[in-house]
Amino acid sequence: MARKKGLKRTCLVLVLSLAVIFLLGVFVESQWKVQSFSGWLSKATQDLKLKPKSVNVRKDIVSEMKAENIKEFLRDFTKLPHLAGTEQNLNLALRIQKQWLEFGLHKAELVHYDVLVSYPNSSQPNYISIIDEHGTEVFNTSLSEPPPEGYENFTDIVPPYNAFSAQGEPEGDLVYVNYARTEDFFYLERNLSINCTGKIVIARYGKIFRGNKVKNAILAGARGIILYSDPADYCAPGVKPYPEGWNLPGGGAQRGNVLNLNGAGDPLTPGYPAKEFMYRYSADEGVGLPSIPVHPIGYNDAEQILKLMGGPSPPKSWKGNLNVSYNIGPGFLDDFSQRKVKMHIYSHNQIARIYDVIGTIRGALEPDRYIILGGHRDSWVFGGIDPTTGAAVLQEVARSFGKKVKDGWQPRRTIIFASWDAEEFGLLGSTEWAEENAKILQERGVAYINSDSSIEGNFTLRVDCTPLMYQLVYNLTKEISSPDEGFEDKTLFESWLSKDPSPQKPNLPRISKLGSGSDFEAYFQRLGIAAGRVRYTKNPKMDKFSNYPVYHTVYETFELVEKFYDPSFVKQLAVAKMRGSLVYELADSTILPYNVVDYGEELKNYADSIANLAKKHQEKMDLYNVSFDALYSAIQNFSDSAAGLQQRVKNLDTDNPLAVRIINDQLMFAERAFTDPLGLPGRPFYRHVIFAPSSRNKYAGESFPGIYDALFDIENKEDQQKAWDEVKKQIAIATFTVQAAAETLKEV
Ligand SMILES: *[C@@H]1O[C@H](CO)[C@@H](O)[C@H](O)[C@H]1NC(C)=O
Ligand SMILES: *[C@@H]1O[C@H](CO)[C@@H](O)[C@H](O)[C@H]1NC(C)=O
Ligand SMILES: *[C@@H]1O[C@H](CO)[C@@H](O)[C@H](O)[C@H]1NC(C)=O
Ligand SMILES: *[C@@H]1O[C@H](CO)[C@@H](O)[C@H](O)[C@H]1NC(C)=O
Ligand SMILES: *[C@@H]1O[C@H](CO)[C@@H](O)[C@H](O)[C@H]1NC(C)=O
Ligand SMILES: *[C@@H]1O[C@H](CO)[C@@H](O)[C@H](O)[C@H]1NC(C)=O
Ligand SMILES: *[C@@H]1O[C@H](CO)[C@@H](O)[C@H](O)[C@H]1NC(C)=O
Ligand SMILES: *[C@@H]1O[C@H](CO)[C@@H](O)[C@H](O)[C@H]1NC(C)=O
Ligand SMILES: *[C@@H]1O[C@H](CO)[C@@H](O)[C@H](O)[C@H]1NC(C)=O
Ligand SMILES: *[C@@H]1O[C@H](CO)[C@@H](O)[C@H](O)[C@H]1NC(C)=O
Ligand SMILES: [Zn+2]
Repeated sequence: MARKKGLKRTCLVLVLSLAVIFLLGVFVESQWKVQSFSGWLSKATQDLKLKPKSVNVRKDIVSEMKAENIKEFLRDFTKLPHLAGTEQNLNLALRIQKQWLEFGLHKAELVHYDVLVSYPNSSQPNYISIIDEHGTEVFNTSLSEPPPEGYENFTDIVPPYNAFSAQGEPEGDLVYVNYARTEDFFYLERNLSINCTGKIVIARYGKIFRGNKVKNAILAGARGIILYSDPADYCAPGVKPYPEGWNLPGGGAQRGNVLNLNGAGDPLTPGYPAKEFMYRYSADEGVGLPSIPVHPIGYNDAEQILKLMGGPSPPKSWKGNLNVSYNIGPGFLDDFSQRKVKMHIYSHNQIARIYDVIGTIRGALEPDRYIILGGHRDSWVFGGIDPTTGAAVLQEVARSFGKKVKDGWQPRRTIIFASWDAEEFGLLGSTEWAEENAKILQERGVAYINSDSSIEGNFTLRVDCTPLMYQLVYNLTKEISSPDEGFEDKTLFESWLSKDPSPQKPNLPRISKLGSGSDFEAYFQRLGIAAGRVRYTKNPKMDKFSNYPVYHTVYETFELVEKFYDPSFVKQLAVAKMRGSLVYELADSTILPYNVVDYGEELKNYADSIANLAKKHQEKMDLYNVSFDALYSAIQNFSDSAAGLQQRVKNLDTDNPLAVRIINDQLMFAERAFTDPLGLPGRPFYRHVIFAPSSRNKYAGESFPGIYDALFDIENKEDQQKAWDEVKKQIAIATFTVQAAAETLKEV
């Protein structure tokens, strides 16, 4: 009994002391929490005081970058073909991951997706033939490009093809459709009354994205489309074909996908990440897949076909530089009128596993704010320029940031490096990652800087970015020395301004609108994350949407870059410094280096240009009571709010971390405020109301795209009331969006 009592007492004491310990624990923990929060606050405050200006860290990072390293990364990464979905491209991903960890990044991971890609059939080659009246193939286009010297023994060079082409063997009369632009088909239909229904069309590459050409051909009723590179667009005067020079040889042909995804990413999982568990559409439900065969050829083969063309002779602007008439057709000259063209296309779509490499440097103060530097790794063949001049720059930027991290430095915000896969198949790797992380990115994404090809010419800098970044770009180019001949001791800003001045803004170089055609698309056009891209380009007096001559051919080699584009690698180094400096400033500045006042000014410019377009129909504007007044009012309100915010930035107490965070959140969400969750008409994944890839050329950026598209060719719409109602609707949506964005900038 006594023993039992003693046991009871012992138990009671034990329980009581456990309770006391527990309560003490709770108390201590809550105290600790308070302390750790105030500790964080004072550390943050201290940090902010300690680092009012961070110029020295940027100087360290930038001066660590070396032309010689970029050259070696380029040489190394272009030794083998790196087609998306192949083992070789996975092996390169693993090497990049390993290097990033060695460089000093905190983390580097592979992320995979299973996406739709397209390959030629290795036992049944694609080609195009001319057949005679018996069906005999009297001429065939070549099955591959003559490989450059030293590259003869590769067995894994994919022959020229257009990824996602439909299979088939259509035959028929040919129609020459110039660049296959909307205006080219208008001319055929409206001026010449040529009907492309049931025909095979042949178009030259250039001016617009090839997927838009294919879409136009399908709308015109064509049964197939042949794409070729004309010397007028792919041979610069006075330059020899590769390998003697950098022009396209007659046997070279441009590969490339012909999707019309409008930002959807993987065609079978639009809007959602292509993970194992994801529901997939069947192949015939896939987004953006063309319904007709498409095939690219070089100008030697094109000449053999075009020289037979009959029908009306073309206007001057339709003539290229081949020794042929450029007759439009349909069909061949009288002597050959029994002959037809036949396509033989056997490429197939399949699901393949792709790999993004995601590397991170964790932010010290605001780990939940992300700056992304991303560029693709996959290439059509060796990827000498595209993408590897960008991937090599990305590698050197990662290395120099990593070095600083090894020295004990950490940025204020988190930096994410991304090596995307399957960009060539429709921006797939970058879009799938954006889809998988959309919820996080829309809350935490500060900026996306693209790192695709760092050169497409050796003339001057080219920048496409959000107006938020204009000032930052100008400022940074003033602190990087120009790599251009004749501009020794001058800044990048000075050579850029001298070679490509803005047509509207005195004493400023040109900055263009973001369109698409590379991996920033999902981040900017869908998620509304501020974005920018910089690279070296050819003389902008030449057409900027026609690519460099050997683009997407087997002739894109290391030697092409080393011999003809950037022998000392100083242009690529300048681009590396720009990309790295942008990332640094965005990641480490106390206040985000965004200027909302510039956005207001650009909105006004864009409104003027769309209003001028509409004014060409003044009578209709009056008749249907269409006005831009409300849009201008919203833009004025945006500019007023922007000026107010910029003033508050100036007077901000940067020792107060919460005040800083409040302003930074307003700056970060300024771009996001321009997105409409419903997307643009018919293009749900293009949600930015101010910018979109042009509906007629994916490469180009269009401002106020909803209004622009409603006005396009409006005079030929049958129901004018309905057409102008759509214009009014789009003006109203733009007005609402700009006004709503203005509200987000006001003092809270
Ligand atoms: C490739 O072509 C061969 C020969 O016509 C055919 O048997 C095979 O199924 C094709 N392969 C694919 C993946 O379509
Ligand atoms: C074109 O290729 C087909 C199929 O291989 C062949 O039968 C034909 O003889 C070829 N024509 C010429 C002119 O080489
Ligand atoms: C390609 O293979 C042939 C035959 O094996 C060899 O003679 C030649 O040197 C190789 N070329 C290259 C560039 O490796
Ligand atoms: C095509 O026809 C339109 C309308 O008749 C005319 O204005 C235009 O100049 C013509 N285009 C050309 C290139 O002849
Ligand atoms: C073109 O031809 C097709 C079939 O031959 C016909 O259905 C269509 O209406 C024609 N288009 C025009 C604009 O005449
Ligand atoms: C252009 O083609 C014509 C007709 O085929 C030919 O007579 C002429 O020699 C060619 N000119 C050149 C410069 O090749
Ligand atoms: C590089 O610059 C030189 C000098 O301006 C020019 O002649 C050459 O064509 C350029 N190379 C390329 C590939 O644009
Ligand atoms: C650009 O430089 C000017 C002048 O030094 C400075 O006032 C401004 O804040 C800078 N803007 C950005 C976004 O870096
Ligand atoms: C025309 O539109 C304005 C607003 O833009 C509106 O105030 C006015 O009532 C409209 N007039 C007519 C006739 O619809
Ligand atoms: C702009 O602000 C003024 C003043 O607050 C307001 O009256 C007007 O309705 C605003 N404009 C729009 C389009 O909301
Ligand atoms: Zn690229």
